[in-house]
Amino acid sequence: MANKIKIAPAEGKLGILLPGLGAVSTTFIAGVFLARKGLLQPVGSLTQMQGIRLGKRDEKKSPLIRDFVPLASLSDLEFASWDIFPDNAYEAALKAGVLSREHLELVKGELEKIKPMKAVFDRTYVKNIGGPNVKNGKSKMELANQLRQDIQSFKKEKNLSRMVMVWCASTETYTEPKAVHNTIESFEKGLAESDAAISPSMIYAYAAIMEGVPYANGAPHLTLDIPALKGLAENKGIPVAGKDFKTGQTLVKTAIAPMLKARMLGVKGWFSTNILGNRDGLVLDDAGSFKSKEVSKKSSLECIFQPDIYPQLYKGMYHKVRIEYYPPKGDDKEGWDNIDIFGWMGYPMQIKINFLCKDSILAAPIVLDLALFMDLAQRAGMSGMQEWLSFYFKAPMHADSVYPEHDLFIQHMKLKNTLRYLMGEGPITHLGIEYYDYWGEKK
Ligand SMILES: NC(=O)c1ccc[n+]([C@@H]2O[C@H](COP(=O)([O-])OP(=O)(O)OC[C@H]3O[C@@H](n4cnc5c(N)ncnc54)[C@H](O)[C@@H]3O)[C@@H](O)[C@H]2O)c1
Repeated sequence: MANKIKIAPAEGKLGILLPGLGAVSTTFIAGVFLARKGLLQPVGSLTQMQGIRLGKRDEKKSPLIRDFVPLASLSDLEFASWDIFPDNAYEAALKAGVLSREHLELVKGELEKIKPMKAVFDRTYVKNIGGPNVKNGKSKMELANQLRQDIQSFKKEKNLSRMVMVWCASTETYTEPKAVHNTIESFEKGLAESDAAISPSMIYAYAAIMEGVPYANGAPHLTLDIPALKGLAENKGIPVAGKDFKTGQTLVKTAIAPMLKARMLGVKGWFSTNILGNRDGLVLDDAGSFKSKEVSKKSSLECIFQPDIYPQLYKGMYHKVRIEYYPPKGDDKEGWDNIDIFGWMGYPMQIKINFLCKDSILAAPIVLDLALFMDLAQRAGMSGMQEWLSFYFKAPMHADSVYPEHDLFIQHMKLKNTLRYLMGEGPITHLGIEYYDYWGEKK
């Protein structure tokens, strides 16, 4: 058995800070309130519903994850948010139209109390929306300080012992790292001079890390993937994770692609298209925001198929991803995948997938799990990027020395083995040879 890592207990209340009070955030918060009252189940959440096998298969030990690792409980969670629109969480949830009015009525009182704080917003980063609930400041550093003040006030007001931040606001336009992002010194100088290359999401992340708050990026844009913020998180001992929640089409893609590769079936082309009509869809209708999403969505197949190792099967595979804004769909996203594959002697076959999903219903449990696991990571002294949480992301952060793991099943095993490791249990390799007596050693 490995050594158990020292983990501080999950005592007191955990505050969850959410930039963005839109479809995902409100579906998440309302769901926690409903689950807390025992009215509906937190389906899709590993921290609430999944078991974890310990030891050998014949030992039959599979506690629930939440009974195995010390996690904050749902009753200890408090929420705060920022948004460019002033609607409270109840009004915002009604507008998002994900959970029914009938369900929202059951937690209306709790939701109405969550009123968004003024946001840090810059129209050059999100072109298709604008709103009145926005902070003013002489410089980006001043805006960061206002966010830090918000974080401190939330902690004091709710008497919190710990906090985490999960970005659930709109996707910002595609950008690449610049010189200002290289070191924390250049970044802070850039904040003071309001450098145009510093996005609102970077200002939130900076404020969080400076306040000792773990930060997870649920959107595909550049935030933490810059040396300045990665270095700051490591130096201050703060967990960070990202990016882009893995919910609908990419979830399916990263489950199907490992199957094709495991059976050495070739792929000529993979065409993925989506229609969705929520505010996220409206934001992604802008070419810059779509580019952030496209880059994030496209990264998975190349990594899973390894065309350099298997050129006969995957080299030159045509991969295209489209997202179309179609208002009548609302949050009910529809995704189509057309996969042109080939098998024995190169004979062609096709797979067609039509996933009729609800975007925020898939994203809400991810926000919950990330918040609880990021808090666990901090109490376990795990600073910097949390690759073991790749399971939840379309474009997972990873050490420079390794390639990212996109295969859903490897990610799942990595997550659970990390939990076993933290608790001093051996990893599960699924070798299983010990149940058989191939070499007569048991005689
Ligand atoms: N739902 C999913 O399946 C899924 C999957 C992966 C990623 N995401 C990402 O999660 C994010 C949230 O998705 P959603 O469906 O809730 O979108 P949404 O449009 O319903 O909500 C986002 C909210 O963020 C607000 N906002 C924009 N810029 C802000 C800022 N700078 N500060 C504070 N608030 C700001 C908007 O006003 C809006 O209310 C998006 O970036 C989306 O791309 C969602």
